[in-house]
Amino acid sequence: MKHFKDTITFIQDIYKTKEFLPLHAPTFGGNEKKYLLETIDSTFVSSVGTYVDQFEAMMTAITKTKKSVAVVNGTAGIQVALRLVGVKSGDEVITQALTFVATPNAIAYNGATPIFIDVDIDTMGLSSKAVSQFLEEFGDLREEGCFNKKTGKKISACLPMHTFGFPVHLDELKAVCDTWKIPIVEDAAESLGSEYKNQPTGSIGEMGVFSFNGNKIVTCGGGGIIVTNNENLGIKGKYLTTTAKLPHAYEFYHDELGYNFRMPNLNAALACAQLEQLDLFLVNKRALALEYKSFFDTLYMKFRTETPDTKANYWLMCVELENLEERDVFLAETNASKVMTRPIWQLMYRLPMYQYCQRDEQLNARFLEERIVNIPSSVR
Ligand SMILES: Cc1ncc(COP(=O)(O)O)c(C=O)c1O
Repeated sequence: MKHFKDTITFIQDIYKTKEFLPLHAPTFGGNEKKYLLETIDSTFVSSVGTYVDQFEAMMTAITKTKKSVAVVNGTAGIQVALRLVGVKSGDEVITQALTFVATPNAIAYNGATPIFIDVDIDTMGLSSKAVSQFLEEFGDLREEGCFNKKTGKKISACLPMHTFGFPVHLDELKAVCDTWKIPIVEDAAESLGSEYKNQPTGSIGEMGVFSFNGNKIVTCGGGGIIVTNNENLGIKGKYLTTTAKLPHAYEFYHDELGYNFRMPNLNAALACAQLEQLDLFLVNKRALALEYKSFFDTLYMKFRTETPDTKANYWLMCVELENLEERDVFLAETNASKVMTRPIWQLMYRLPMYQYCQRDEQLNARFLEERIVNIPSSVR
């Protein structure tokens, strides 16, 4: 059995510490304190203030989209984006089982059910080939959209996830979804700064959603944003996430069921300061990824890198171990030495609330589930 002392020493050396090394710690080296203090001094810490507008404008520019809607977290963003593209209670949504639980949860919050389709080995994200195979077998294309022959339910969206910032093969997926009249919402929670064929992730589907949770490449404590090129959907998104209130100088009237999902100005201030450093973070992480790759190459260990035609943000870096046994030794030895490592998620259909969902064989997802481990990836 392989042992991993050299790996542990290498990681401690590149971070220049033998203290505990987290997977991803935030870096606050810019205007964070300045903007936060300004916000407190202005008293506009909550739902009114200029930083929310500024944050949305910055994200619209970064993702080259037409409209952004800042929300309280990524999960809420995905929930609303799905509703905006037409997901209703009783519908079904195609997604991957190899993901964080927020992805299927956002589907379930709409009263819809996930269908779990396999991922590609190279991207670890939703496989267009597997989606196509599923739809060839179960899809029933009608005037009103695509229906599942097995359940009779409408498949009203497809929710791919860019695992650890590695973009899925979006052109191929889009071609399949267009054929079957299924809109795509990109779960881009982990992929801020990643690109697919020179286009930012999140901007290619009908809508995309990013997370700004404390462990992400850019954080605002907690937060999310919906981006879209469909301005009408963006406007509707703003309205729904701010309690569906009709504009009026002083009257309160809400003409449908909305949400209080608006991002507070305090978080938006932090987000703006962090976004100013995104390019710096991306360069820094790419340099780290290169160092990791050179090191792991010498050990004949697979360090995961971006696929052709894509640019990954290298949010969480990962290695692929030979098998489950070796993975468990790697996890035990690294964590015992205070170098935090973590296995990729268990597949979502193993969780009690999703065990009855329809799914395919998941050959690739199961292969990756047993082998992929995240390693410390913070900006240095
Ligand atoms: C794949 C994925 N989707 C959704 C989310 C949800 O984001 P948030 O934690 O901001 O709700 C996260 C991250 O936390 C994530 O990793």
